[in-house]
Amino acid sequence: MKFFADTADVAEIADLAATGLLDGVTTNPSLIAKSGRNFLEVVKEICGIVDGPVSAEVVATDHATMMKEAAVLRALAPNICVKLPLTIDGLKTCKALTAEGVKTNVTLCFSANQALLAAKAGATYISPFVGRLDDIGHDGMELIQDIRTIYDNYDFKTEILVASVRSPVHVLAAARIGADVATMPPSVIRQLAGHALTEKGLAAFLADWAKTGQSIL
Ligand code: E4P
Repeated sequence: MKFFADTADVAEIADLAATGLLDGVTTNPSLIAKSGRNFLEVVKEICGIVDGPVSAEVVATDHATMMKEAAVLRALAPNICVKLPLTIDGLKTCKALTAEGVKTNVTLCFSANQALLAAKAGATYISPFVGRLDDIGHDGMELIQDIRTIYDNYDFKTEILVASVRSPVHVLAAARIGADVATMPPSVIRQLAGHALTEKGLAAFLADWAKTGQSIL
């Protein structure tokens, strides 16, 4: 399972990339606004930090302008993945970009039928938003399971990129289902490594080691 960081915070991305555990980055217009940075500049910088795909989202709502925006984004770096909204125009743009060999991430997916359309349009990734579904009383993970079943039924190559992840519980459930990618806030990636018993056990080992008076180096 691949891990993407869902942020436009360059310092956080650099820190996570240094662990060797980061496979890519996703951004969206809200995350860009939060960064306070120029969109094209910050995305280009992120592309230089990570080798994997960096999703950058178009903001046009019509196909012709989406294609123009995609051309600008594609020119930033070879690892750009053009993020498109799950609308008819977004799917049309996805189909056209896929034909040109461009990586695409179809975002704002909230139903299995939407995911089916994205796969038919040749999307590289489909981004179902589990947290936002949970927020309105739906089961986000049920959607991931449905998409997994449908994609496997037809051998679609589109990767399931679980988005709107809010906690390690989402990551575990997504991994059990066999989702391809989870994109998460840096805080959730770090939470995955944490366990109270690990901290307690390490403290005990170090205390006992200190009693030996020895040093490895
Ligand atoms: C990822 O591509 C999405 O933009 C992101 O995961 C949305 O998360 P949110 O629902 O926490 O804003």
